[in-house]
Amino acid sequence: MRNPPPQAVRLADYRPPAFLIDAVDLDISLDRSKTRVAARLAIRRNPAGQAGAPLALDGDGLVLRRVALDGAPLAPEAYEATPDSFLLRAPPEGPFTLEIETDVDPSANTQLSGLYRSGSAYCTQCEAEGFRRITYFLDRPDVLSVYTTRIEADKSEAPVLLGNGNPVGAGDLDGGRHFAIWRDPFPKPCYLFALVGGDLGHISESYRTSSGRDVELAIYVERGKEPFASYAMDSLVRSMRWDEQAFGREYDLDVFNIVAVSDFNMGAMENKGLNIFNDKYVLASPETATDSDYAGIESVIAHEYFHNWTGNRITCRDWFQLCLKEGLTVYRDQEFSADQRSRAVKRISDVRGLRAQQFPEDAGPLAHPVRPSLYHEINNFYTATVYEKGAEIVRMLKTLIGEADFRRGMDLYFARFDGTAATVEDFLACFAEASGRDLAQFSLWYEQAGTPQISVQSDYDAAAKTFTLALEQSTPPTPGQSDKKPFVIPLALGLIGENGDELTLSAAPGETGASGEECARGVVELSTPKRKIVFENVPSRPVASLLRGFSAPVRLAPPQSAEDLERLLAHDSDSFNRWQAAQSLALRSVFARIEAARGGEGADDKAFFDALKRLVEAGEGDPSLVAQALSLPSEIDIAREMGKDVDPDVIYSARSGLRRDLGRFLAPALAEAHARFAPQEGFSPDAASAGRRAMRNVALDLLAAGDPASGGPLAERQFAEATNMTDRICALATLSHLPGAAREDAFAAFYERYRKDHLVVDKWFALQSTIPEVETTARVARLMAHEDFSLANPNRVRAVVGSFANGNPTRFHALDGSGYALLERVVLELDPKNPQLAARLLSALRSWRSLEERRRKIAETTLRRILATPDLSADVSDIATRALG
Ligand code: ARG
Ligand code: ZN
Repeated sequence: MRNPPPQAVRLADYRPPAFLIDAVDLDISLDRSKTRVAARLAIRRNPAGQAGAPLALDGDGLVLRRVALDGAPLAPEAYEATPDSFLLRAPPEGPFTLEIETDVDPSANTQLSGLYRSGSAYCTQCEAEGFRRITYFLDRPDVLSVYTTRIEADKSEAPVLLGNGNPVGAGDLDGGRHFAIWRDPFPKPCYLFALVGGDLGHISESYRTSSGRDVELAIYVERGKEPFASYAMDSLVRSMRWDEQAFGREYDLDVFNIVAVSDFNMGAMENKGLNIFNDKYVLASPETATDSDYAGIESVIAHEYFHNWTGNRITCRDWFQLCLKEGLTVYRDQEFSADQRSRAVKRISDVRGLRAQQFPEDAGPLAHPVRPSLYHEINNFYTATVYEKGAEIVRMLKTLIGEADFRRGMDLYFARFDGTAATVEDFLACFAEASGRDLAQFSLWYEQAGTPQISVQSDYDAAAKTFTLALEQSTPPTPGQSDKKPFVIPLALGLIGENGDELTLSAAPGETGASGEECARGVVELSTPKRKIVFENVPSRPVASLLRGFSAPVRLAPPQSAEDLERLLAHDSDSFNRWQAAQSLALRSVFARIEAARGGEGADDKAFFDALKRLVEAGEGDPSLVAQALSLPSEIDIAREMGKDVDPDVIYSARSGLRRDLGRFLAPALAEAHARFAPQEGFSPDAASAGRRAMRNVALDLLAAGDPASGGPLAERQFAEATNMTDRICALATLSHLPGAAREDAFAAFYERYRKDHLVVDKWFALQSTIPEVETTARVARLMAHEDFSLANPNRVRAVVGSFANGNPTRFHALDGSGYALLERVVLELDPKNPQLAARLLSALRSWRSLEERRRKIAETTLRRILATPDLSADVSDIATRALG
C-alpha cells in the first residue's frame, strides 16, 4: 500500500492550540521490546484557542493500553485511538486529568526518533516530532509543560537513569529493578523531553555560576571511554563562562548532564538539562581526534549549551520559526569559537562552510527562505539555510545596529520572552526597539530565498581625485518566489592605496556621498536596487576591499582584476579579504586552465604564485592563515562558481593542474615549512598548535601534488611517525591520492591500529570513499560489504555514502551513472529503516540542474525512479519531489 501523500503545513494556517497541558507526569518502565509509558496530563482549555474543539493528540505508531479521565476509565465511545492519533470527543470545559498508557518497542525503533536503543543504552530524540512516538500528546512547540519523570529499569542493565531537570528521588525495587525521579521546573515543549538509561561511565565537575549557584556537570559515555570526554568537559565549562560574560546568561538547574551515544541522526540535541550527543562531538584524544574534531566538539558543546537560553527558556512558537533558535544559536557558537580561537580563521572556515553547503542549496531546487512558509516534512528543514544563513542574518543585524544596541536588543528579548514560545517578529521587534530603527525591510532576509548578487563598477577620476563605486543588487528567482525585493545589505569596505596603505574614507558631499557614520565605521548600506557612492580626496587609483569579513551572505561580481587581487592579497588589513583574494586568484587560474583545455589562452600564475611564496616564506604571523590561503578552492567551490553546465571531470583536471604547478613552484618553501612546523613536544589542541599542524599538512599535500616521487615517501614517513591524529590522517589523505602499494599498505595499517575505535574507523571509510579514481565506486561497494559497515549506524553511512556523494564529485557524477545508481540503491534500502537519514543522503543530488546535459539527464532519471518507488517515506518523497520541482 502506498503511504498517503504527506500533508502540507503552512505558516499562514497557524492557530493557537485549543488546549494547554500544564503538567506532565510520566512513569516509564524501560524494557528492550516493551517499554510501558504511563502519562498523566493536566489539561485545560486554552482561552486563546478555538472554543468547543475536541482534544486531538498526536501519536506515531503507538499501542494504547489504558486511558482514564479524571481517574475513571473512559468509555470506548468517548474517544477514538489509532496508532497515530488520539481524539477525546467531548472534553470537559474545566481543567481535567487524562491518563494514558502506551507500549513502545525501543529495539524496533530504527528511525532513531522517539525512544530507541543505541548500543546497550536506552535514549530518546524528540525534536522535531519524536515525542509522539513515546506517548499521545500535543506535539507542537507552543505547548509548554512542567515535567516529572519516573524512570524504572533493570538495575544491572541500566544502573544510570537520567531525565530532564533535577534529580528528586531514586530507589531500589523488587526483582532487580530500580527507579529514579527527575523534575524539571521550567515549562518546556515536548521536543525538549529526554531520558537515558544504561550502564554508562561518566566524568564530573563542579561549576559555580557568576551569581554563586553550584551546578554539578557530568558527561556520560560508554564505559572505558571516560578519559576521552575531558575536552568536551573543558569546552562545556568555557561555554558556560562565556555565556555569562558575552550575553549575561547563567545556567538555571542544579545539574547539567551530557550523554554521548553512537547512533544519532544529527550532531546533538539540547534537551533541558540532559543534552544527548552523537559521540563524534564528545570523544577526543590526541591519538584519535583531528584538530577539526576538537573544533567540532568545542562548537557543538557550546551550541547545545547555548540553546538553554536560545531555544529552551525561549522556544519557538511553531517549526517555521526554527531559525529563531537555530540561526541565533549558531551565531552564538560561532562567536564563542571566534573568541576562543583565531577570529579570522574561524570566519574563513565558517564562510567556506556557508558557501559549500548553503549557497548550493539556495541556488537549486531545494532553496527555501530562512523562515520557510510551507513544509511537508519538517525534518527536511534542518538545513544550512535555516542554521548557517540564519546565523548570518543575526550577524548582519549586529553590524547594522552596532554592538551596543545589539546587546540591548538581546537583553530585551531575554527579558520579554523568557518562558514563552516566540516568533521571528518578536525577536526583531526587540532590536527595532533597542535601536530605534525600522527593521521591516531587514526582515526580508527571513522571507526571501536566494543569494543576492552584488555587482560593482568602480571608477577613479584622477583630476577630481574622486573614486566612485556603483553598486547594484539583484536576487535570482527561487521556487515559489519569482520576483525579489531589494535587501538591506551591510557592505563592509575599505580602500587600499597604491603603496598598500589603508585610505581614510571621506565621502563627497551630496546624495552620492556615504554618510559620515558609514565612512567612520567602514560599512555602507545597500538597501535600494542601485547605489552610487563617491569618495573624495583619493590621491591615486585605489583598490576597493569589499565585503570585508564577509559582512553579508551575498555574491560579489564581476571578479576583480588579477592586479587588484594581488594588491589585496599583499596589503589588505582585513584578513578575511586577504584570504578571499587568494581564493579569487586561484579561481581565475582554474578558469583560465579550463579555457586553455578548450584551446583558449592559458593561465599566467607567476604573480599569484610569487605572492603565495612570499606568504609561506615570511614565517611571521599566523600559520593557520597562510594554510588557509594555500588551501585552494575545492572542486565543489569551483562548480558553484561555474553555476551551469558543470563537468566535474574538467574541473578536476584544471584544479589538479593548478595544484601540481603550485606544488612545484613552491617546493623549496613548502619543504622548509613542513620541517619548520614539525610537531613540538607534547600535544595541545589549541588554535596556535592547530595552525602549525595545518600549515605543515597543507605543505605536505602540495609537495606531493607537485612531485609524487618525493612527496609520497615524505607522506609515508609522516604517516608512520605521526604523534597525533591530524598528522596521521593528513598523511594518509595525501597518500590516498597516490595509487599504489604504499597507499594500500597505509590503509591496512591504519585499520589494524584503530579497528576498535569506531570514530577513527569512520575516517578510514570516509577517506577511501573520496579517492578520485575510477575504481573507487567498486571500492565503496566493497566497503559497504565490510564487516564493520552497517546501515543502522548513521555516522558509518555518512562516512561511506555521504563522503562519496558529497566529497567525490568525479566519481559520484560519473558519466556511466554508476555513482547515482549507488546512491539510489542505498537511499531505497535505507528509507524504510531510517527515512531522515535516507532523505539527507538524497539531497546530495540537489544541484543536479547545474550539471552539463548528459549528467543532468541521468540525475533526473534517477530522481524520477526514486519518486516512483512504492511506499516511499514522507522524508524522501519530499526531497525527490522538490528536487524535481
Ligand atoms: N536542535 C538540534 C540542534 O542543536 C537538532 C535536532 C534536529 N533533529 C532532527 N531530527 N531534525 O541543532
Ligand atoms: Zn541547534
